[in-house]
Amino acid sequence: MRKAIIAGNWKMNKTPTEAAALVESLKPLVADASCDVVVCVPAVDIPAAKAAAQGSNIHIGAQNVHFAESGAYTGELSAAMLKEVGVEYVIIGHSERRQYFGETDATVNQRVLAAVKAGLKVILCVGEKKEEREAGYTDALVEYQTLIALTGLDKKQVQSIVIAYEPVWAIGTGLVATDEQANETIGVIRAALARKYGKAVANKVRIQYGGSMKPANAKGLMAQPEIDGGLIGGASLKAKDFAAIVNYDKD
Ligand code: 13P
Repeated sequence: MRKAIIAGNWKMNKTPTEAAALVESLKPLVADASCDVVVCVPAVDIPAAKAAAQGSNIHIGAQNVHFAESGAYTGELSAAMLKEVGVEYVIIGHSERRQYFGETDATVNQRVLAAVKAGLKVILCVGEKKEEREAGYTDALVEYQTLIALTGLDKKQVQSIVIAYEPVWAIGTGLVATDEQANETIGVIRAALARKYGKAVANKVRIQYGGSMKPANAKGLMAQPEIDGGLIGGASLKAKDFAAIVNYDKD
């Protein structure tokens, strides 16, 4: 059985002071979680969030990482830098990075390799745009995005990757994929992993759903057999809402 993982992606929200306060208020609300709990915060918030999370079951993640070890890459952060400030997880290939910052499948792959090499746990985002779903390309596209991003990893490393299936049309729109749609496409990703790396590996990879996941729809999504967690944007900015999603399996 795969352990569920619920992660918040705060995107460009919260100052360090606000980050510490949000983590503090989350701590008691998620203390009894049966899933892994992660918050992926803006880079400058990492020390404050880390200090606030001390001694709790909340793990800290970053929202991106550069592929080089060091060098002339103004504005970027290396995996070693993130590791040293206590980051455990890193989101790579979020659709907002692909859309607004020119991220490609090739650079996503390079970032994944750098993160894994440094011992960071990767949350790899894949997902189709609305017009791609309408044209019938969803399955081919998520398979292609996933396999390119993982190129160069061995089976053991692939097993440790968390994948977030985030249909772009469902992000921040209030439009959520139906439970069945999300389950089906995550099944397509898992089948692609099975073909390439074998069934045993594919069955160990945790695959989240992301896109307008809220307390009201979390239970239904999480009840689907292929869905192993959530990557939560808007609803992760409110302690009560995020905690309600984390506690999806409690009454
Ligand atoms: P929303 O939950 O705000 O739709 O964002 C999803 C997301 O992009 C998480 O990475």
